[in-house]
Amino acid sequence: MKVSGNKILITGGATGIGLGLTERFIAEGNTVIVCGRREEVLKEVAAQLPTVIIRQCNLSNVEERESLYHWVASEHPDLNVLINNAGIQQWMSPTDTDFYQKAKEEIAINIEAPIHLASLFMHLHSLQTLINVTSGLSFVPLTKVPVYSATKAFMHSFTLSLRQLASAKNIEVIEMIPPALNTDLGGKGLHDHAPAVIDFIKSIFEQLKLGKTELTFGFSEAMTKSGPEDLQKAFVRMNSAN
Ligand SMILES: NC(=O)c1ccc[n+]([C@@H]2O[C@H](COP(=O)([O-])OP(=O)(O)OC[C@H]3O[C@@H](n4cnc5c(N)ncnc54)[C@H](OP(=O)(O)O)[C@@H]3O)[C@@H](O)[C@H]2O)c1
Repeated sequence: MKVSGNKILITGGATGIGLGLTERFIAEGNTVIVCGRREEVLKEVAAQLPTVIIRQCNLSNVEERESLYHWVASEHPDLNVLINNAGIQQWMSPTDTDFYQKAKEEIAINIEAPIHLASLFMHLHSLQTLINVTSGLSFVPLTKVPVYSATKAFMHSFTLSLRQLASAKNIEVIEMIPPALNTDLGGKGLHDHAPAVIDFIKSIFEQLKLGKTELTFGFSEAMTKSGPEDLQKAFVRMNSAN
């Protein structure tokens, strides 16, 4: 994709990786719309980045996803890039009493929202690029986050199919595959050990400028290139302390 002159909707674009993308896309000369559930967080970003357009929205809710699409189609019919970035990560075990409830919440935001938004926004005549944010855990699961890992494997598979299906409409589909990065994902402090978002974003933009459609970094680059034996070794290494 070209990295300037776009109008881009970034779900969850007010924090973490989404915020890193928002800042960089604005610096590269794009118009950015961000959405999320917390209005106060959206307003903070708007105060720091005056050109950003904010929209409060709970993407776990079907009607709010439809209303977001209809708002964009009416107010921003020139939107040409959708980035499905919003997601949650639940550290849990199947024996937890609230396991199933938490699993349903995770599936709603990590799977139902991006596949529904993809299907809605592909009707927007201006759409040229759709980016799904998956994870290095799409390729090898971390058992502490069993449903999260599975949602990301689902989205990796779906993105491969979507890339081929969307090509008939000349829509480019990109998979952004972050490794663990230092954000508040899963709760404050859980990712403090991980690389900074800014280093990831720098690498992502280099890859976008080269025309790549699978964007990787560090651990996720290794995982996308690994065969079954290396993936099995990584699984044992990552989960041996459980
Ligand atoms: N950080 C990592 O280690 C890592 C690694 C691989 C992949 N990823 C993926 O990267 C993406 C961004 O995560 P992050 O690390 O940047 O964490 P983050 O800072 O917690 O970002 C998640 C964003 O999603 C939004 N969101 C969550 N549920 C939502 C809902 N129901 N409706 C609308 N927005 C919602 C959040 O805003 P509100 O809470 O205000 O709604 C927040 O802005 C996720 O898809 C994550 O799975 C992250």
